[in-house]
Amino acid sequence: MFMQQNSSWVPIFPEQASTFAWQVDGLYFYLLAITAFFTIGIVAALIFLVIKYREKEKYATGAEIHGSIGLETLWSIIPFIIAMTVFLGGAIVYYNQYRTPKDAMEIYVVGKQWMWKLQHQTGQREINELHVPVGRKVKLTMTTEDVLHDFFVPAFRTKMDVVPGRYTTLWFEATKPGKYRLFCAEYCGLNHSGMGGWVYVMEQRDFDNWLSGNVSGQTPVEAGRDLFENKLGCASCHAGGPQQRGGKVEGLYNTDVKLVGGQTVKADDEYIRNSILNPSSQIVEGYQPIMPTFKGQVTEEQLVSLVAYIKSLGSEGSGATSTGSGSTGSGTSGSPSSSMPNPTNPNGGRLPTSQLTNSSVPGASNPNAPGNTSEPTRRENR
Ligand code: CUA
Repeated sequence: MFMQQNSSWVPIFPEQASTFAWQVDGLYFYLLAITAFFTIGIVAALIFLVIKYREKEKYATGAEIHGSIGLETLWSIIPFIIAMTVFLGGAIVYYNQYRTPKDAMEIYVVGKQWMWKLQHQTGQREINELHVPVGRKVKLTMTTEDVLHDFFVPAFRTKMDVVPGRYTTLWFEATKPGKYRLFCAEYCGLNHSGMGGWVYVMEQRDFDNWLSGNVSGQTPVEAGRDLFENKLGCASCHAGGPQQRGGKVEGLYNTDVKLVGGQTVKADDEYIRNSILNPSSQIVEGYQPIMPTFKGQVTEEQLVSLVAYIKSLGSEGSGATSTGSGSTGSGTSGSPSSSMPNPTNPNGGRLPTSQLTNSSVPGASNPNAPGNTSEPTRRENR
């Protein structure tokens, strides 16, 4: 059997190992109790009445009943109260689960047929395993290279779809050290059932040991900087200076960006991702729609790194670090810049709104995730 998997308070139930596990169970058993109460009550009344009022004489006339205001009010109000408790319970659990706390430790997750690839901010990578410290809020930023998956840890009583072409997040705070099942909870093809693994919840010091015992390689931020400055040559247009044709990304994260057409969007993970893959869909005011798409040239993991890097440059006024000047500009020669946003940059002319293609909504990015898993980091054809 699974280690620690059956020490639950209810047989066959997974252990409660996150802060909201008991809330989910509480709500679940509350619903079950209400359902059981009414099912049993109604069936019992049915049987009782069928027997009591069975036909005793042929063609008997029933007594006339003219209704009762009191009774009708009562059986309206009681269900209303019950329904509201269900609603409130559900809303509370939902808000707890789906509003990610700001102080959470972030881990990146990329799903793929048929495995989970995870990366810590310190650079350690894992496949189908996730090590996390106990008592610490953990946020997963997730996407997929191919089809829809769903990240599910029953012991944490939480799950979230992992959707091609966008980022979804999931958070939890594990309460008990142990080893817990991880599943894919969305049918994703032949080996869907095998797409799972384990979450290891460890004491903080064990976790620190684990981290230091694993080769970290590049952190997402370092990998992102490398892509930005060297491999993809983003810096030639986006790092400021005389070459700058696109918005500066320094201080960009989480600021409001004004688009051509007057809309304002938040420069969040989704927006950055979309600006790289679908540059013409969100043209920043003051810039030309000249940035080529990087669709097919960056993997989801590289995108995550780029987002992490841009994030690390801070948001306006929060003491951003420098982007450095590492660009040679060679990678982008002849291929113009950007729709990359910078709300404060007063650069140049407006452009026609007709350039603004469809979605200006961050969530509505193109679902064609680059399916390649190789390392297409050079922009050969530009
Ligand atoms: Cu991935 Cu099912």
